[in-house]
Amino acid sequence: MDVAIVGASGYTGGDLIRLLLLHPHICVTCATSRKLAGKPVESVHPHLKGLIDLRFSNPSADEMDADVAFLAVPHTAAMSYARPLLARGMKVIDLSADYRLPRDVYEKVYGVTHTDYFPAPYGIPEIHRDSYRNADFVSNPGCFPTGATLAAAPLARFAHTIVFDSKTGVSGAGDNPSSTTHYPNVADNVNPYKWTTHRHLAEMKQELAALGSGAKCYFTPHLVPVDRGILTTAHVLLERPMGQAEVEELYRKFYGGEFFVRLQDPILAAVRGTNFCDIRAESEGERVVVVSAIDNLGKGASGQAIQNMNILCGFDEREGLAVAGLLP
Ligand SMILES: NC(=O)c1ccc[n+]([C@@H]2O[C@H](COP(=O)([O-])OP(=O)(O)OC[C@H]3O[C@@H](n4cnc5c(N)ncnc54)[C@H](OP(=O)(O)O)[C@@H]3O)[C@@H](O)[C@H]2O)c1
Repeated sequence: MDVAIVGASGYTGGDLIRLLLLHPHICVTCATSRKLAGKPVESVHPHLKGLIDLRFSNPSADEMDADVAFLAVPHTAAMSYARPLLARGMKVIDLSADYRLPRDVYEKVYGVTHTDYFPAPYGIPEIHRDSYRNADFVSNPGCFPTGATLAAAPLARFAHTIVFDSKTGVSGAGDNPSSTTHYPNVADNVNPYKWTTHRHLAEMKQELAALGSGAKCYFTPHLVPVDRGILTTAHVLLERPMGQAEVEELYRKFYGGEFFVRLQDPILAAVRGTNFCDIRAESEGERVVVVSAIDNLGKGASGQAIQNMNILCGFDEREGLAVAGLLP
């Protein structure tokens, strides 16, 4: 199948190309960038030199031809590609926030007007895959909501309050430099940001509700000096105490058979470059502390997007994604 990546010069676009090189049924035939049109892909992704022979281009949506398209562009940009590419018969996976929330919630949280809204399935495969197996479009979840939701999902129905505390690597902000991501600000440092107001909180609440949970939900992210990775600590406060054995059994049942969720001590480096989410839960009775580790560009973005493409296209979900992390 031919794949087009809209926004291929960015971080998630680069990781889509890297991982799709391993996919037996896929050929990346179109990689867009407005600024780098005409330049070879390795001009901004030197790690891909010799592995793909492709130049960036800047076609309009109406000029694009492929079987599948990934939208790896900022929110508000994706909404002008989604419907035109679907109309051209492509399956579309959107990595942006444009279709993750109902229109009114999206417009409130992101402070913009949605110019081409339609309801779309929310693509955490481990929770929702059966709802979009035959779909043409899926909205890929945010990076923080992926790690947080997978950490809390088995306990969500039993909780009255969940507090997510996440540490994220700097690539989560994309390749546009800013004072926040400037080296002296990040190195040897830990920065909490958007303590109570991060946009991803809306997705977390939405997913807890989808899991049948009425729990109150709080979230604070921190920027830490690593390139990739999100480590999330979920403090799950329960309606009734649960022992360690019961909690472990819940997690084993919920994720039994899931290739990409591994129940073991979460270590950022162990999931680096992969689509894995490593999770461990520890009970102290009324509070269970659950920690998850993902790569924000892997299970938090491009890896999960490829897992979703595999679902939409009827491939084995593991195709292109059965790679080990870089440890040490
Ligand atoms: N970074 C992460 O960890 C992460 C995780 C989950 C989800 N996401 C989401 O994935 C999307 C891409 O993130 P990223 O980190 O890869 O961003 P990025 O590094 O900033 O790359 C953005 C890409 O989109 C292109 N682009 C920007 N504005 C565009 C427009 N108006 N029309 C067409 N192309 C445009 C850019 O190339 P040109 O400007 O040259 O066209 C570039 O290729 C975002 O919606 C982000 O929120 C990111």
